[in-house]
Amino acid sequence: MTLEFAKRCATTAQQSGWRNTHRVIVIASFTLCLLHFLFCLFHHIFHPLLFSSLLFIMDGKVFNTGLLLLATIFVAKLIHTFLIPKSNKRLPPIVKSPLPLLGGLLRFLNGPIVLLREEYPKLGAVFTLTLFHKNITFLIGPEVSAHFFKASESDLSQQEVYQFNVPTFGPGVVFDVDYSVRQEQFRFFTESLRVNKLKGYVDQMVTEAEDYFSKWGSSGEVDLKYELEHLIILTASRCLLGREVRDKLFDDVSALFHDLDNGMLPISVLLPYLPIPAHRRRDQARKKLAEIFASIIASRRSTGKSENDMLQCFIDSKYKDGRPTTDSEVTGLLIAALFAGQHTSSITSTWTGAYLLSHQKYLSAVVEEQKTLIEKHGNRVDHDILAEMDALYRCIKEALRLHPPLIMLLRSSHSDFSVTTRDGKEYDIPKGHIVATSPAFANRLPYIFKNPDSYDPDRFAVGREEDKAAGAFSYISFGGGRHGCLGEPFAYLQIKAIWSHLLRNFELELISPFPEIDWNAMVVGVKGKVMVRYKRRDLSVN
Ligand code: HEM
Repeated sequence: MTLEFAKRCATTAQQSGWRNTHRVIVIASFTLCLLHFLFCLFHHIFHPLLFSSLLFIMDGKVFNTGLLLLATIFVAKLIHTFLIPKSNKRLPPIVKSPLPLLGGLLRFLNGPIVLLREEYPKLGAVFTLTLFHKNITFLIGPEVSAHFFKASESDLSQQEVYQFNVPTFGPGVVFDVDYSVRQEQFRFFTESLRVNKLKGYVDQMVTEAEDYFSKWGSSGEVDLKYELEHLIILTASRCLLGREVRDKLFDDVSALFHDLDNGMLPISVLLPYLPIPAHRRRDQARKKLAEIFASIIASRRSTGKSENDMLQCFIDSKYKDGRPTTDSEVTGLLIAALFAGQHTSSITSTWTGAYLLSHQKYLSAVVEEQKTLIEKHGNRVDHDILAEMDALYRCIKEALRLHPPLIMLLRSSHSDFSVTTRDGKEYDIPKGHIVATSPAFANRLPYIFKNPDSYDPDRFAVGREEDKAAGAFSYISFGGGRHGCLGEPFAYLQIKAIWSHLLRNFELELISPFPEIDWNAMVVGVKGKVMVRYKRRDLSVN
């Protein structure tokens, strides 16, 4: 079959009267053998997470079909590389690799940040990685990423690259709908996160934190990562999913969200509908969640009861033509909100703690700030008091600069565009490329952030303001521009509510080594446990 394919390729090339046919056949045959060898190699050695399920179905017939498909893409690419005349566009430099074409994949699998660290010094702010038949062009730094953030959906879209979310969020929402409908759904998000709503959510966040930490003893040792993950699920349930879920259905709904979460694997990005057990459990969980929310929505509608939560906002939302949201859309939007906000916030809370507990200077600063606020307002904590916690805000923001949970943002380009680097080089990025930028890499650019690897929350203080040093897209943990995070204020309020409670009520000490980064997670977080020793205290004000 493979030989047949190589012959067909040769015939096509001869008919076109091209001369390099022989060369193409030799390279194609050689490379197909190489491909087969590499797959055997992958089977035994490489990335178990990404490849285990893929290779499982690659035994027998499916393997042959998969191989043929890859070969087709591969040979098409060879023909393109060797036979199609070069354009005179100022294309970005290409990431070189000793293995043609597959090399890109290997380097990407080794970790996109490793790749960026290696290639940025050599190739600069704009370069292209070839992954099979796809070109991924990286735009690193605010000078070249501005277009990424500002471009209209018709030029740079999210739909194709984030399509893998559709089976999780469900039909009819976000990346399953046209941009015009998605825009309206994002309007519902915006409405549900307005200040008047946030004020109510903060009261619930504070209550959840008080309840949760009241269960700690007078002293002890805990895994801070585990504790904060749990508290944030409870808070998110209360503020987003609503009282019914938080008070009555918490365990059931948590288990279902857990299945949804576990159904989002690296392989799901490539093959979201692959029939593997994790995807089947995800689909069943999505169905059950839809049933649970349908009954909650029906009950709220029949009793006419209204609550201050995101669920209520979505139930009350209407499209421009007057159509109300359906139960399925409400469920999908809530799932999307939880996916956007839960891990991101809990990871950031944990990093904030790890940094504060290993930087006495900043720990003292935030404790002093709490004392000042207690002096001013007593023990009360509300939206406006949280807004006064500037030192704590900077400490969270700095933890998030060093560890943005979303390390790579993607778009699909539908029209050619050009960018100019800060040293004046111009590049044309053709339509059809996937365009990527990386908060994890860009947030540590040394020409924007002084000593970029050090934890220095004061870099955001008045007078320094490094987050604006090179314009609006200098600091991109929350993205920016057209698709900037809608939950940023919610996230800060939630993390501040937790940390102000901890600082006021406990003396804390980090007793495990400073945590490492878990690069393997979909939302990049903290590796292993973060063990903390605590002792209750009442922050005294002299
Ligand atoms: C520390 C916490 C968070 C981080 C680091 C974060 C980060 C981000 C980033 C980087 C984007 C841009 C994605 C892109 O450009 O492709 C984004 C978008 C978004 N985030 Fe967040 N997020 C956080 C919390 C939240 C929360 C709590 C919510 C909601 C409750 C939320 C809702 C959204 C939504 C709806 C979008 C899509 C906006 C759009 O496409 O127009 N996020 N977030």
